[in-house]
Amino acid sequence: MTRVLFLQGAGVRAGAERCLLTLARHLPAAGVDPIVAALADGPFLAELEAHGIPVERLGAAPRARQWWRMGHAVEAVASAARRHDAAVVQAVGEKMGLYGGRAARRAGVRSALWLHDAPARDAAATALQIALAASPRDAAVAPSRWMAQKFRVRLGMRTDVIPHGIDAAELPPRPHDLRAELGWDPGAVVVGHFARLQRWKGGADFLTAAADVGRRHPEARFVVVGGALYGLEPDEPTHLARLAGALGLGDRVRFLGHREDALALMAACDVVVHCSTRPEPFGMVVLEAMALGRAVIASSAGAPPELIDHGRTGLLATPARPVELAAALHRLVSTPRLRRALGTAAQAKVERDWTARVMAERFAHLYDRLLTAAPVTAGADAR
Ligand code: GLC
Repeated sequence: MTRVLFLQGAGVRAGAERCLLTLARHLPAAGVDPIVAALADGPFLAELEAHGIPVERLGAAPRARQWWRMGHAVEAVASAARRHDAAVVQAVGEKMGLYGGRAARRAGVRSALWLHDAPARDAAATALQIALAASPRDAAVAPSRWMAQKFRVRLGMRTDVIPHGIDAAELPPRPHDLRAELGWDPGAVVVGHFARLQRWKGGADFLTAAADVGRRHPEARFVVVGGALYGLEPDEPTHLARLAGALGLGDRVRFLGHREDALALMAACDVVVHCSTRPEPFGMVVLEAMALGRAVIASSAGAPPELIDHGRTGLLATPARPVELAAALHRLVSTPRLRRALGTAAQAKVERDWTARVMAERFAHLYDRLLTAAPVTAGADAR
């Protein structure tokens, strides 16, 4: 069995963490033995362990300005790779990419970089991306063609595209009893927004569209599921709650915060909305909603058009145009038959094209390729 050490830098579960958990659970069947080394702490690590995935805690990752501690972190990862006899170190996300490749070089093993975010244009992101492009690695993986193209054009990085997958057996067996819990009518049509609360994930557009739809459809109800994560934009939840008040949404919208049972809540929604204002790198929520047979509306920028066939397996709407989103919502809220048709087609598509098994097999294939290529020479960049 090939052993792969995943370098993980966040302790709370969001999209990238769900992908890691799914991949790690399915790698053994593809002949790969995963272990996670964490430069962070948090409940997600225990969740990995509960699924039988070994975790080694290496303490917190240094902050960007603590550059002198970076060498220690690299050494800690390299020594974990040696101790566990890993053949490949795979960094999960951009920040871990700064350590993973260097640690692998030091340990004399192969390295892969698993990208989860699009190259952004702000100063901090740009600095990280430039450092990342200059960091050693033997392969980089992006989950969507859109992301692969962005990294190639902006940073000259070559990537393999491996889309995320879902294991239907890991989906919640039954929906959460959402309407009863929130005191809503059993016949309420529930529309959910699932994302970590950051401005670009489009919570404000969701609420604006909700206010419009709510006026026309008294039976429509809205839930916002997600919290401020990774220490980013901590004021976003308050900002959204105020906006909901100003829009007069009242009891028609509920903010449920970050929820570990997000998928059971999603299964209870009639419509799932993913309305990021910037291009979405992948959109795990879109894939999850489709796998649950929900009718989904997603922004038409970034990867969602690779996932949704507009009008057949979901609807696409122009990002940052709440009026267009409201029109799509109006269509779905008023047409249960269309919701069912989209949901059924979406579920069939996921079961055919985006399974966790296929995702794990593609990664296993990539590791084989890395391990059969010419041996690593110290310091050389095999890009
Ligand atoms: C990040 C991206 C999201 C993607 C997830 C998994 O959270 O913002 O689009 O689905 O990583 O790759």
